[in-house]
Amino acid sequence: MNAFKYGCSVEGENFCARPELAKSLSNYIESGQNLVIQGDRRIGKTSLVKETVSSMRGWSILYADFMGVKSVPDVCNRIADALARFDSSDSFMRKIFAALVHLRPVATIDALTGLPTISVDARASSDPSSVNAVMNAIESHVKGRKVCVVFDEFQDILDVRDGEQMLALMRGRIQFLSHTSFVFLGSARNAMMDIFMSPKSPFYKSAAVFDVGTIPDDDFFAFAKARFATGRRRLPRSLFDRVLEFVDRTSGDVQEMCDAIWQTSEPGDTLVDKHFEKGLAFVFERENGVYAMFVKPLTDIQLRVLKALAVLGGEHPLSGAFLDEARLTNTATVRRSLASLEKTGLVFSASSGWRFSSPFFREWIRRMR
Ligand SMILES: Nc1ncnc2c1ncn2[C@@H]1O[C@H](COP(=O)(O)OP(=O)(O)OP(=O)(O)O)[C@@H](O)[C@H]1O
Ligand SMILES: [Mg+2]
Repeated sequence: MNAFKYGCSVEGENFCARPELAKSLSNYIESGQNLVIQGDRRIGKTSLVKETVSSMRGWSILYADFMGVKSVPDVCNRIADALARFDSSDSFMRKIFAALVHLRPVATIDALTGLPTISVDARASSDPSSVNAVMNAIESHVKGRKVCVVFDEFQDILDVRDGEQMLALMRGRIQFLSHTSFVFLGSARNAMMDIFMSPKSPFYKSAAVFDVGTIPDDDFFAFAKARFATGRRRLPRSLFDRVLEFVDRTSGDVQEMCDAIWQTSEPGDTLVDKHFEKGLAFVFERENGVYAMFVKPLTDIQLRVLKALAVLGGEHPLSGAFLDEARLTNTATVRRSLASLEKTGLVFSASSGWRFSSPFFREWIRRMR
């Protein structure tokens, strides 16, 4: 049994309630307000939206995930799939098929998930205007119903060659569905900002910004304590505080660390620092090969900057102390290295300074000889 879950959205007993956020989110959705959800990676944006809509009485969610889309037919397929999953009754499927007829849809059952899927013909749907047909299908579906339409990893549409054109067409249709709340989510903050905050974008100012921050410490502690208790482990607050600090309060990393502690402890244990260390060792053992691969292509200077970042933190990377730690004399070299490291995805620049994408990798680097 796994008491902790990470790497995907969570619901039910794996979801630590966030009543205040859920209340204000549901108020927006009920009023038909379009929203763009903003927050750090793995903080819980997708989970919050899914869990909130599923708790709203009489409401349902139409959830399309655009992660990794590469072509116009991909985008159409994701929306068609969302519709098929929403309701696979004959009458509903007939309606979707009618709306998509020009894209030559085919219905199948996904062999892995057992869920119904609809695929459109790649050639018939290669033009960006095909998105009009799927938007028609959405429109006929949401009319007169309490549906919240959620577009996740929305920024990935920009990776499609005609992405901008598709966004413009989508935006044109969405603005006429004023009673339906469209909620846009994405894990790449900068790309999402480009879509919703850049005056050149068709989605400029088309949605209110809704911030998802960290889960309040007390709530998260009560949640984690109860989860550990299901396996007869006692979690003292001091150890949980250590976890929170170690992972910068990123929800997904909190759960990953708790899982590691769970995996390396026994029923009856009161969890102490020793368990934290064992948990870390467990993660390192699992990730060693991957971390070594991350490090291998780096130059000596990049590695020194990475190490200094792990040791000192990223608030003042141009300070004398940072230069000393990295054994460098020139701030331009630090800047250049950080820019290259950012491209690898290992670190990123946040409002509070430079940060590692993974606290586990940060610790692995910090301990590296
Ligand atoms: N309310 C919550 N209670 C407990 N854990 C949570 C909660 N929300 C998120 N998590 C943890 O964070 C992980 C990531 O959640 P989720 O996918 O919802 O975040 P996200 O912000 O959408 O991430 P991404 O930036 O990758 O899209 C989950 O697998 C879970 O471990
Ligand atoms: Mg997400």
